[in-house]
Amino acid sequence: MRTLLNLILEVFVLKLALAVPSRHNPQVELDTYYSANYDVDLGNLNLYNYDDGLTIDEPQIEIGTLPPFVDHFQAPAASLEEEEEEEERPLQPHMPSGGSGVLTDLDTPGGLHTCLQCTCLGSSVYCDDAKQERIPPLPKATTHFYARYNKISKVHKSDFSRMNKLKKIDLTSNQISELDKDSFIDLPALEELVLRENQVSLLPPLPDSMTLIDASHNKLSSRGIQREAFKAMSNLQYLYLADNHIDYIPVPLPDSLRSLHLQNNNIQMIHEDTFCNLKDHNYLRNALEDIRLDGNPVNLSKIPQAYICLPRIPIGGLV
Ligand SMILES: *[C@@H]1O[C@H](CO)[C@@H](O)[C@H](O)[C@H]1NC(C)=O
Repeated sequence: MRTLLNLILEVFVLKLALAVPSRHNPQVELDTYYSANYDVDLGNLNLYNYDDGLTIDEPQIEIGTLPPFVDHFQAPAASLEEEEEEEERPLQPHMPSGGSGVLTDLDTPGGLHTCLQCTCLGSSVYCDDAKQERIPPLPKATTHFYARYNKISKVHKSDFSRMNKLKKIDLTSNQISELDKDSFIDLPALEELVLRENQVSLLPPLPDSMTLIDASHNKLSSRGIQREAFKAMSNLQYLYLADNHIDYIPVPLPDSLRSLHLQNNNIQMIHEDTFCNLKDHNYLRNALEDIRLDGNPVNLSKIPQAYICLPRIPIGGLV
């Protein structure tokens, strides 16, 4: 009988097969694939040797011998962004003992405790769906922290203090309504912050090192976003603020921005200089290929010259 687990594994294996283009040294390819995408230390995973049987031509793959990779939860809905998110969702190997401390720098008793309660793998800490009501104390070496699908209601200034290596924080689907103003601003390595599906009405200041900010499905109004909040983030590529109560596009937007999602807000106006440069008609904003403004009470046809510098016109009501 084919169980659901087998099905999931098979999909996973097929994904791997597609991700490993060469058969000459599949293990090395695999290592590269993993460490590039998930920061997983393969040495600890005791992976099955893929040398035989794993080709795209042969879909009938022996899957019984694979280690039990299980993604513990399914995304509740499938919006465009969630599909994107799916691609980068990290693996969460099922640990029979409930947790495994692979982090080398377990320098705080609190961090050690967290690694028993959650899963620490490489320098990543996975606390998804773990009934947490607060951010747990983290080992100082943590680079990626996931605490999705919990009951966290507040982010305290002390939660991430002196976490100098922290690159990614994912707090999707909690009950966060309050964030201390200086919760994130002093994190020198922070690049990605995901706060989607919470109750956030005030976005705290973030460091200029950000590359991805996702605060979709919250209670943000324009007053909850600082003036020129994103201006100095010269590496910011993804800004997701869909499904909030935002009245204005949060200008100026850095040139690095590739994706701006503002669908389902309350934006009523686009200005000629929202995206483009009135003074310089040769200015091109090449990176920004993906603008979502659908679900806003804005008539995008009103100011056609607002899009001349863009590679594509925004998605939204051209009425
Ligand atoms: C949107 O703007 C265009 C251009 O000004 C206008 O022709 C059209 O009637 C407007 N649509 C609505 C629904 O206001």
